[in-house]
Amino acid sequence: MKRINLLNIGRILLLLSAMGLLFIVGSMSNSPERVAAQSEDDLQPQSESTSNFACLSCHAEAYTPVQLPSGENLFIQIDVTDFANSVHDRNQVTCVQCHSDKTGFPHPIKTANTLHEYQLERDVACVECHELQSTQTKDSMHGHLLDQGNTNAPTCSNCHDPHSQAYVDELTKDQHSEVCANCHNGIYQEYSISVHGEAMINDNNQDVPGCIDCHGVHTISDTSTAEFRNSSVYLCADCHTNAAIMDTYGLSTQVLDTYVADFHGTTVTLFEITEPGQITNKAVCYDCHGIHNILSVNDPNKGLSVKQNMLVACQSCHPDATTNFPDSWLSHYIPDKDKYPIVFYVTEFYKYMIPVVLGGMALFVVSDIYRRLRMKFIKPKPVAVTVEGEEVNTNE
Ligand code: HEC
Ligand code: HEC
Ligand code: HEC
Ligand code: HEC
Ligand code: HEC
Ligand code: HEC
Ligand code: HEC
Ligand code: HEC
Ligand code: HEC
Repeated sequence: MKRINLLNIGRILLLLSAMGLLFIVGSMSNSPERVAAQSEDDLQPQSESTSNFACLSCHAEAYTPVQLPSGENLFIQIDVTDFANSVHDRNQVTCVQCHSDKTGFPHPIKTANTLHEYQLERDVACVECHELQSTQTKDSMHGHLLDQGNTNAPTCSNCHDPHSQAYVDELTKDQHSEVCANCHNGIYQEYSISVHGEAMINDNNQDVPGCIDCHGVHTISDTSTAEFRNSSVYLCADCHTNAAIMDTYGLSTQVLDTYVADFHGTTVTLFEITEPGQITNKAVCYDCHGIHNILSVNDPNKGLSVKQNMLVACQSCHPDATTNFPDSWLSHYIPDKDKYPIVFYVTEFYKYMIPVVLGGMALFVVSDIYRRLRMKFIKPKPVAVTVEGEEVNTNE
């Protein structure tokens, strides 16, 4: 047992390397046979004409696209490598599980007039296996737009190419955001030069928010509602009060505390709790900082640390504000000896002054009450006065 048989080890190594080579060749191969071989292992046996192999025997080839009545083209060639790498093929989801109307060739006559209609018809297939996302999408802003017949609103396959979709966590935040850019390109362009977007796109920074961190994915809501506006403060604060993230960038985590302590924040956060449906005209984070174009406050051209830029932000709601106006406001600072010393010392002064004054007042009042009670209940001793030799009781 203990004796090592060198010949056997040699054989095993040879076998292992042969298997490795086969594996590499296998995974590099683009042939439809590979996809077919995979699907032959499927749990549900398929008939000849509905196997992936049968479908791909035509669809792997370059075909003239089908023209829809709208004039749009339906490209019917399927990239076999992409499909083999897709999350669906990796999980043995077959062509006919999504295309249940196809049982071979010729195919049934198409009813869709446009590409959008065609995609909507096919989306029905997703519901069977992804019920949660389908229900969520129905209740979202995009879903409502689809219900209203908006032909620009996204179907599942606008965001997920069913023939090449990867696992979502194999994709970066930037790749997710690019999906949105297909339709919201203007916003994506604006975002891409913001402090958040630049960090993500140039440095692949995953700490900054992409589109879906602020809007959600299948639950995207209308951004013009009071609910969205009032709760947006916490959207920003979620990250900006998290020291584990902010310390890396040397950014203050007091931005929420200081905001809630000022007149704007006090009202907004009160509304958020008591009347979330009531819109407020007080400033939320993005009124001052921007939305998709947020910049570092130290940006030399547009940063809010530059007084003139800050003033412009204030003037959108305080049109009469003059250069000195922001001075009446502490920004996100908690006053200290260096920053806002006057406010700091005045606050300190009051911290001692108020207890002393109030305490003194209280002492005075208490002692006064005591004196009066004493006067009332403790009768003074009769004082004897002598009038011309007689003793007179003064209490009579
Ligand atoms: C003999 C070749 C051939 C085979 C086999 C074949 N197709 Fe097709 N397919 C075509 C051609 C040609 C078109 C375009 C004309 C048309 O729509 O009939 C097409 C169109 C399609 C379309 C787009 C239009 C539509 O009707 O939805 C889908 C989806 C499709 N095929 C899926 C499949 C699936 C799934 C299989 C396997 C069950 C399959 N095809 C087998 C040739 C084939
Ligand atoms: C996960 C579901 C799913 C699987 C698996 C799937 N398809 Fe599709 N397929 C769709 C959807 C959804 C559409 C319509 C949306 C679109 O255009 O991408 C579509 C569209 C098509 C089209 C029309 C052209 C196009 O791209 O719009 C063809 C052809 C097609 N599929 C063939 C196939 C073949 C062949 C297979 C198997 C190798 C397959 N599909 C596997 C969901 C799927
Ligand atoms: C506007 C684009 C968009 C639309 C429309 C959309 N998705 Fe998604 N979906 C995404 C993005 C982006 C992710 C990645 C989310 C993440 O990383 O958390 C995702 C994630 C998923 C996931 C992975 C699990 C999860 O919830 O994160 C599934 C499954 C899914 N989508 C299915 C669907 C189905 C089914 C539909 C149609 C009913 C659909 N999606 C519509 C963009 C979209
Ligand atoms: C027959 C069932 C089936 C159908 C139909 C189907 N899928 Fe899937 N899908 C799966 C399976 C299985 C996975 C892998 C899930 C896993 O491993 O967690 C998957 C994964 C996904 C993922 C990645 C999920 C993740 O967690 O990363 C997305 C996105 C997705 N599907 C979208 C779609 C869309 C869009 C459609 C409709 C065009 C569709 N699927 C139709 C079975 C299906
Ligand atoms: C296929 C096109 C398409 C894709 C892809 C798409 N959207 Fe949209 N989206 C629309 C349309 C159309 C509207 C309604 C018109 C508008 O407000 O621009 C809309 C509306 C919105 C709204 C609501 C705007 C409002 O008025 O309050 C938000 C938020 C939004 N999309 C975010 C996203 C995000 C995030 C993604 C990526 C995950 C995305 N969209 C992907 C087409 C798309
Ligand atoms: C830091 C959070 C944040 C990020 C990141 C973000 N958004 Fe927004 N977005 C908002 C807020 C807040 C509003 C509401 C603005 C308002 O009410 O004026 C908004 C509004 C919108 C609207 C509707 C209003 C409009 O201008 O049309 C769309 C569409 C939209 N965002 C899409 C996107 C897309 C696409 C991305 C990614 C490129 C993205 N957003 C990234 C916070 C964000
Ligand atoms: C997913 C987490 C996350 C969310 C949500 C988020 N941020 Fe940020 N933000 C960051 C990170 C990380 C940085 C630092 C980026 C860098 O410097 O590279 C940053 C940077 C900033 C800066 C620049 C600070 C400076 O001067 O350098 C401002 C201003 C800012 N965010 C405001 C906001 C506002 C307003 C919102 C809400 C509309 C918001 N952020 C939402 C993570 C987030
Ligand atoms: C009334 C306008 C206004 C509002 C509302 C506001 N900010 Fe600011 N914020 C500023 C100004 C101005 C600065 C620059 C600080 C300075 O130099 O005074 C700043 C600085 C910042 C910084 C940089 C901090 C650092 O360490 O350099 C971040 C991050 C930030 N704000 C996030 C937020 C968040 C999150 C909210 C909402 C909870 C918010 N801000 C609300 C005006 C505002
Ligand atoms: C989105 C609108 C909006 C923005 C932007 C805004 N404010 Fe205000 N602010 C208000 C409203 C509304 C009030 C309450 C006014 C009232 O009750 O008379 C207020 C009140 C104030 C007050 C209390 C004194 C007063 O006039 O009632 C000060 C000080 C103030 N803001 C400073 C600022 C500064 C400094 C900026 C810029 C950095 C700024 N605000 C930006 C909406 C805004």
